[in-house]
Amino acid sequence: MSSVKAVSETQMLNAVKAAQKKAYAPYSEFPVGAAIVGPNGEIFSGCNVENASYPEGNCAETSAIAAMVMAGVTQINQIYVIGNGEGLVSPCGGCRQRIREFANANTTIHICGPEGVRAVMTMQELLPHSFGPEQLLPSKE
Ligand code: THU
Repeated sequence: MSSVKAVSETQMLNAVKAAQKKAYAPYSEFPVGAAIVGPNGEIFSGCNVENASYPEGNCAETSAIAAMVMAGVTQINQIYVIGNGEGLVSPCGGCRQRIREFANANTTIHICGPEGVRAVMTMQELLPHSFGPEQLLPSKE
């Protein structure tokens, strides 16, 4: 029996909003949530976690990836990110590479604000000409 669950946009919006509420962001006061859909419809979420040494904080995407890997999953089918404000809370450069590690050509990045999804793009659009595990480990493709 297949265990692949379809995950709706509404479910994912609920998941990222719940993650954003957990953010520990007393320095930036900019809470961010992220939620990943794995290959079997599993959801892994994370929030940004700051600390007094400002550059050492973790982004929400990084936290969600850690939760995914801890669950034994290494494939991102979709990732949702949510932040407040007017603009797009697009994954930072470091997180683009971290997402890329577990992404494939069909991976979509859903950038959200409080009112819902603001933009959807593919990994290729978010990080073109990227370097990935295929380049480093050609025999393990
Ligand atoms: N941040 C994220 O968690 N994800 C992003 O995609 C952009 C920025 C966090 C880092 C920091 O805690 C706060 O937002 C302000 O930069």
